[in-house]
Amino acid sequence: MIRWFKPVVFLLCLVPLARLGWKASSGGLGANPIEVITHATGDWTLRFLLITLAITPIRKLTGRLWLIRYRRMFGLFAFFYATLHFLTYVWLDKFFDLREMLHDVAKRRFITVGFTAFVLLIPLALTSTTGWIRRLGGKRWQALHRLIYASAIAGVIHYWWLVKADIRLPLEYGAILGVLLGYRIAVWAGPRLGANKTKSLRERPSTS
Ligand code: HEM
Repeated sequence: MIRWFKPVVFLLCLVPLARLGWKASSGGLGANPIEVITHATGDWTLRFLLITLAITPIRKLTGRLWLIRYRRMFGLFAFFYATLHFLTYVWLDKFFDLREMLHDVAKRRFITVGFTAFVLLIPLALTSTTGWIRRLGGKRWQALHRLIYASAIAGVIHYWWLVKADIRLPLEYGAILGVLLGYRIAVWAGPRLGANKTKSLRERPSTS
């Protein structure tokens, strides 16, 4: 793949942040800037989570093996936007009021599940380097990184629970996640079902 492509993709991933910065500096965030920032960072967290999860299926289905080099970058951008989203809540929305935040996490179910989605991403971001793959061993590292599915599911539920009436967007995100999860389950179950079928055919007593 062309060498300049990766830095270009990296810069493209920063466009949502640059847009927010531009709007903030030109007074374009409207009457409720905290809401605009919360929504934009929340949306991009979920989008980057889904993009990260889509890399492996797209790579396998299209044979574009080089895509793997982008998975870590997209995953880290998901964490980056999740951190900005969380900081918007902690800093701009709650002014570091720990009591109020704990109350929110305990009492508002969409915050509880959003918080869970964020916490699940922390070990993934911390162990995203090749050093950690070596230290944990490929199998254990892969098992740990399956947490990204749990985080994405929690992220979709978080969105679902926070919208008041129109659930179309969370439904769309949920459908995409369902397809990606379905693909993984099919890949996992396919060879096992095949092996069981062959085994039962071999064990079936011959009628001739
Ligand atoms: C992986 C973690 C998370 C994801 C994927 C996520 C995603 C989202 C999305 C998609 C939205 C709606 C954006 C829109 O309406 O356009 C949202 C809103 C929101 N999120 Fe999160 N979020 C996460 C974690 C958190 C955490 C940790 C908190 C706070 C503890 C939080 C607090 C909020 C709040 C306060 C809103 C706005 C609610 C409203 O408008 O009524 N989120 N989030």
